[in-house]
Amino acid sequence: MAQVVRGVIARAKGAPVEVVPVVVPDPGPGEAVVRVQACGVCHTDLHYREGGINDEFPFLLGHEAAGVVESVGAGVADLSPGDFVILNWRAVCGSCRACKRGRPWYCFATHNAEQKMTLEDGTELSPALGIGAFAEKTLVAAGQCTKVDPAASPAAAGLLGCGVMAGLGAAINTGQVGRGDSVAVIGCGGVGNAAVVGSRLAGAGTIIAVDVDDRKLATAQRLGATHTVNSRAVDAVETIRSLTGGHGADVVIDAVGRPETYRQAFYARDLAGTVVLVGVPTPEMRLELPLLDVFGRGGALKSSWYGDCLPERDFPMLIDLYLQGRLDLDAFVSETVPLDGVEEAFARMQRGEVLRSVVVF
Ligand SMILES: NC(=O)c1ccc[n+]([C@@H]2O[C@H](COP(=O)([O-])OP(=O)(O)OC[C@H]3O[C@@H](n4cnc5c(N)ncnc54)[C@H](O)[C@@H]3O)[C@@H](O)[C@H]2O)c1
Ligand SMILES: [Zn+2]
Ligand SMILES: [Zn+2]
Repeated sequence: MAQVVRGVIARAKGAPVEVVPVVVPDPGPGEAVVRVQACGVCHTDLHYREGGINDEFPFLLGHEAAGVVESVGAGVADLSPGDFVILNWRAVCGSCRACKRGRPWYCFATHNAEQKMTLEDGTELSPALGIGAFAEKTLVAAGQCTKVDPAASPAAAGLLGCGVMAGLGAAINTGQVGRGDSVAVIGCGGVGNAAVVGSRLAGAGTIIAVDVDDRKLATAQRLGATHTVNSRAVDAVETIRSLTGGHGADVVIDAVGRPETYRQAFYARDLAGTVVLVGVPTPEMRLELPLLDVFGRGGALKSSWYGDCLPERDFPMLIDLYLQGRLDLDAFVSETVPLDGVEEAFARMQRGEVLRSVVVF
């Protein structure tokens, strides 16, 4: 029997989001229904509402979530009702060309639920990142549910489902930050500050946080940045170089994703250093660089999709570190809001007042 729950949808480009009844089908083969306990408000939800991702309105928003499995469909072996899970948008297929080459964190054919959640009139909803968790319950592929220790707070755990994992992974997985490395992080929102935390966890010696907003820099300092740079006040590249013996950082992470921040990242890194782009640019953005500098500075220019994470490997490990007090996920939860508070949470995000607002049920 399908059930009707409350969910937050974006009906049309730019229109305010609405809380409406959503029809959630019973899980089919390989699917699960999850009772959502908490779901963070991510910049990507706002991108969906603004038509920046695609035109498949109406969207069921929300994708940074944790909850409890309510029911599973046929053929689901390793998930049971009652399991505490973080939802992921990388349910690896095991058979695409990336998976076959032993690089499942690039999986090009990740699983989502086959059935559709709908409005009461039957209109099919497009769930954000194949999840749609600003809803009391949601239907996903079983592989999108990653079991973690239920001692974790759902509001904190859910953040590993997107932005915080992207930032941690940009440092640890993509940037391969190691003991004693110098790191600079440009843009210290939820994602960039997670990169600061990831760099510290990986043993970086110098961690330079760069932002245009002093409130974000204060948080970065609290989370482990050794230096902060307001790039409105001073030249970011010169400052990062001077803080690293005149050379530049071993790894520079661009968590904004604009041509000007990428250029800063490119020139603020040491010879043979690494640039990691984790901020998401928009289609009209262009970058021009002297090709000789690309060659002459060497190293690696990498992009980080979802922090190159493997949910099954990374989520339980990071939750264990959280429960041991070594990874402060709670610091990313700026406020909790009810389901009808998403629109105001978008506004606070745009004004830079929060790292993450989290909808709790
Ligand atoms: N790669 C992925 O898989 C992935 C996953 C989630 C989010 N993201 C992307 O990461 C980016 C950051 O997300 P967020 O949730 O942290 O956003 P956010 O809005 O919370 O943070 C952005 C930060 O960048 C700062 N900033 C803006 N312009 C700047 C500039 N020119 N120089 C320095 N700092 C600047 C802002 O002050 C803010 O602190 C977004 O583009 C988001 O879409 C990527
Ligand atoms: Zn695959
Ligand atoms: Zn997200």
